[in-house]
Amino acid sequence: MVDNVKWHKTTINKYDRQNLNKHKGCMLWLTGLSGAGKSTLANALELILFQKGIRTYLLDGDNIRQGLNKDLGFSPEDRKENIRRIGEVAKLFVDAGLIVITAFISPYEEDRQYVRKLVEQDEFIEIYVKCPLEECQKRDPKGLYEKAGMGEISAFTGISDIYEEPPSPDIVVESDKNTVEESVKIILNRIQSKLHWF
Ligand code: ADX
Repeated sequence: MVDNVKWHKTTINKYDRQNLNKHKGCMLWLTGLSGAGKSTLANALELILFQKGIRTYLLDGDNIRQGLNKDLGFSPEDRKENIRRIGEVAKLFVDAGLIVITAFISPYEEDRQYVRKLVEQDEFIEIYVKCPLEECQKRDPKGLYEKAGMGEISAFTGISDIYEEPPSPDIVVESDKNTVEESVKIILNRIQSKLHWF
């Protein structure tokens, strides 16, 4: 499909943009069950980074699935395509010199590894937003676990579809133990080197 297509090198590159922004770019890839708190954490994190003068963008599963990915459902193939597209979009944002935060269940290890390989080694930071399934079910902020339990939603992650825990995430935050503020601090500490331009 990419036959007869040639990469056109641009005059301004990622490093020029990073220089202008005075910080590095990367993907902060949040993964975890529905209801684990990915979107809440992503928002809190973006706010703090924004207040520090960092150029950011936030990609959130529920939002992207209403636009770019509204043709996709929740079969394994569609989830794979969902993550592939988001990986490519996030890569563009990294190329634009931004810190891009993504909040997708991204349940399959293979798909997360695929995205990791799209960028340079230190540009993909996998953050596992860990929370026991029972706690997510108790929270059930969108009432989806209840619907899934009654069989009204098929292939629901954690109920009727798998969630593969990341075997070696770069950062783990436990949303049933850490407050949102604590989790933000843990992440900021780990990405300090990207926030300052020396
Ligand atoms: S992913 O598995 O492909 O990464 P994504 O993060 O984009 O999922 O979307 C998950 C959101 O879609 C959930 O937070 C929930 O609101 C909604 N949703 C609807 N149906 C399902 C389902 N079968 N499994 C998981 N989430 C679902």
